[in-house]
Amino acid sequence: PSGALADTRGRLMRDLRISVTDRCNFRCTYCMPKEVFDKDYQFLPKSELLSFEEITRMTRLFAAHGVNKIRLTGGEPLLRKNLEVLIEMLAALKTHDGKPLDLTLTTNASLLAKKAKALKAAGLQRVTVSLDSLDEAVFRVMNDVDFPVADVLKGIAAAHDAGFTSIKINMVVKKGVNDQDIVAMARRFKGSGHIVRFIEFMDVGSSNGWRMNDVVPSAEIVRRISDQMPLIEAEPNYTGEVAERWAYADGSGEIGVISSVTQAFCSTCTRARLSTEGKLYTCLFAQSGHDLRALMRSGKSDEQIAASIGLIWNQREDRYSEIRTEETARTKKIEMSYIGG
Ligand code: GTP
Ligand code: 5AD
Ligand code: SF4
Ligand code: SF4
Repeated sequence: PSGALADTRGRLMRDLRISVTDRCNFRCTYCMPKEVFDKDYQFLPKSELLSFEEITRMTRLFAAHGVNKIRLTGGEPLLRKNLEVLIEMLAALKTHDGKPLDLTLTTNASLLAKKAKALKAAGLQRVTVSLDSLDEAVFRVMNDVDFPVADVLKGIAAAHDAGFTSIKINMVVKKGVNDQDIVAMARRFKGSGHIVRFIEFMDVGSSNGWRMNDVVPSAEIVRRISDQMPLIEAEPNYTGEVAERWAYADGSGEIGVISSVTQAFCSTCTRARLSTEGKLYTCLFAQSGHDLRALMRSGKSDEQIAASIGLIWNQREDRYSEIRTEETARTKKIEMSYIGG
């Protein structure tokens, strides 16, 4: 492959988000509501998961097609046994022009204190931690398993001590649930070197009961923070960056807002997603994926699989966030815990 793959709208394939497990020890109400993900829920058996060798092979083929950023997600990726072994395998790969891949992880941090050192040693470059509130009661209601804020903060501190810098902290904002905690979250991490990103609540999957009324527009989020701690808009780090950057006027760092509902960013979307069982999805809101695992397990060559990936991306038309309505929000879509955030 040439190292540049364009879809029908001229968007290159640059990022690959890999879900390494569909399981999670949290039950965030907007992601894995307890009523659906209960004790009878059938998670994938181990034989259905891509093995580390299969994930590494896929990553190598995607890198040859121009992917330069890998994000490991889930479910909760740190629940996957020996994840640091996979990270070591991925860290040895190169982009099509011979550079190391940008290797990152999104985690709920419940196991981060235990694993941060091993992850760093294995070659992980960056971590993003999900944390929806600093208010104990609110956070426990949102994760729905009574997980304490303090343990997430310990995970972040451990990651920092292990040498991870500019840790990103993702807060999904749901109106009437945690939006009163926006300013406190910004204030807590202002000057810490970490970057809080406020995410508009999205209609991913089919079980989170999304309503437009639940969304606090990111313009409003910026206004609320800026009223207390003045913000100035900052240039994107690269074209197609998901988060819009806002810097504190006093130079003490920055925040980000991710406005997939009020300001869709599909026109520059360079992201592919590989599900836990090896299906390729070209959009977070896709209804079906392409079974790459079947190609691997039926003995197809690297060349054949790379050609299939090329064809799938060339035909890609996705722009869900540009066409979202209350109706589309209710259609059947795959769950985020399976496809990876
Ligand atoms: P970095 O900024 O480089 O760390 O990566 P990133 O912006 O991709 O960060 P991250 O993976 O943490 O993404 C943050 C959140 O943005 C995700 O958890 C999703 O909620 C949302 N998001 C990311 N990519 C997409 C996308 O392609 N479409 C939509 N609608 N939302 C996305
Ligand atoms: N809307 C917005 N963000 C979501 N995430 C999970 N579900 C949703 C949703 N419905 C976020 C998580 C995590 C990242 C992987 O995606 O909080 O930060
Ligand atoms: Fe687990 Fe993350 Fe989903 Fe919460 S948002 S249930 S931590 S995968
Ligand atoms: Fe990309 Fe789909 Fe998200 Fe649009 S909705 S930014 S096409 S993943």
